[in-house]
Amino acid sequence: MSSSAISSAKEVFELLREDLAAIEREFGRDTVSGVRAITDIGEHLRAGGGKRIRPALLLLAAKLFPHDERSAIRLGAVVEIIHTATLVHDDIIDEAKTRRGRPAANTQWGNSKCVLAGDWLYMQAFKVAVEERNFRVLDVLIELTQQMVEGELLQMEKLGKCISLDEHFDLIYRKTACLFSVSMKMGALLGKASEEQEALLAEYGRNLGLAFQIVDDVLDLTASEEVLGKPVASDLREGKVTMAVIHTLERCTPAERKLVEKVLEERAFVTVQHEQILELLTRYGSIQYAHDAAAQHAEIARRALGPFPDSEIKSALLFVPEFVVERSS
Ligand code: IPE
Ligand code: IPE
Ligand code: MG
Ligand code: MG
Repeated sequence: MSSSAISSAKEVFELLREDLAAIEREFGRDTVSGVRAITDIGEHLRAGGGKRIRPALLLLAAKLFPHDERSAIRLGAVVEIIHTATLVHDDIIDEAKTRRGRPAANTQWGNSKCVLAGDWLYMQAFKVAVEERNFRVLDVLIELTQQMVEGELLQMEKLGKCISLDEHFDLIYRKTACLFSVSMKMGALLGKASEEQEALLAEYGRNLGLAFQIVDDVLDLTASEEVLGKPVASDLREGKVTMAVIHTLERCTPAERKLVEKVLEERAFVTVQHEQILELLTRYGSIQYAHDAAAQHAEIARRALGPFPDSEIKSALLFVPEFVVERSS
């Protein structure tokens, strides 16, 4: 590796510090409405922090090429605003009580106001994106939003049921990996990348996003709320069967299967405890299996960067998959 090799999240952040700060300011300006509740909900989420991984990816993709920096800031804010809108809606749907270590917006403003604030945020993201006067950008963002909404809806239809791995991958692509892929694709668009380069960067984003959601689902099973800043052990309580659980269900005894089904049925850890499920998943090597699957997708993401010449930016992009797989929050 060259001396410009990036090997920590801090270094990636340092590389993007000024641009990410500009995106924060853009986000703050973009989410002001004449209606107080909307501004307050947007600000509550923004001030709560978050990893800002999607705008970081967009910036890194754009920086592989000469590009208009103002456009990258604007579209970086757009992907983070869309992400924020999905979080507001997701927490209503999941009845979540916390987000980013704070009370979730729905607990403070109620579901009705949050549905509308989420809608407003989506539209605002499009309003900002329209300033680019680029139909491809709009095309990509509209397709993305529909994929994400379809993903949440499909997930709802599967609640409480044991789905196949294929169905699981379809869901996590729509709800998470698609936005990762689009963030990379928009960076490529800004850099006027060739079709092949754009496809490679979108493929990087897709695989990174799959790894990201697989890890999110593992953390939901294994982490603590203090570290995660959002509810844990919530997927099963919400009736969501994720990769590690699918892996165990395909191997366990009928009696063990009943334990999982009981939680899905009761939508709570009443008869069966979280620790019992965790013990089961660990015994069947399912937590490890999901972690390995995430690592595999992270590696596929890294490989997509092969044809790009070495640079500090490429080195940062090569590091991000490692960060995603090893993260603890
Ligand atoms: C949470 O995304 C939603 C998922 C796709 C799992 P992040 O984990 O990126 O949330 P923040 O933005 O860092 O809070
Ligand atoms: C993330 O799914 C889907 C979104 C697009 C928001 P989750 O329901 O697992 O996300 P968290 O765990 O609440 O962040
Ligand atoms: Mg959720
Ligand atoms: Mg989750």
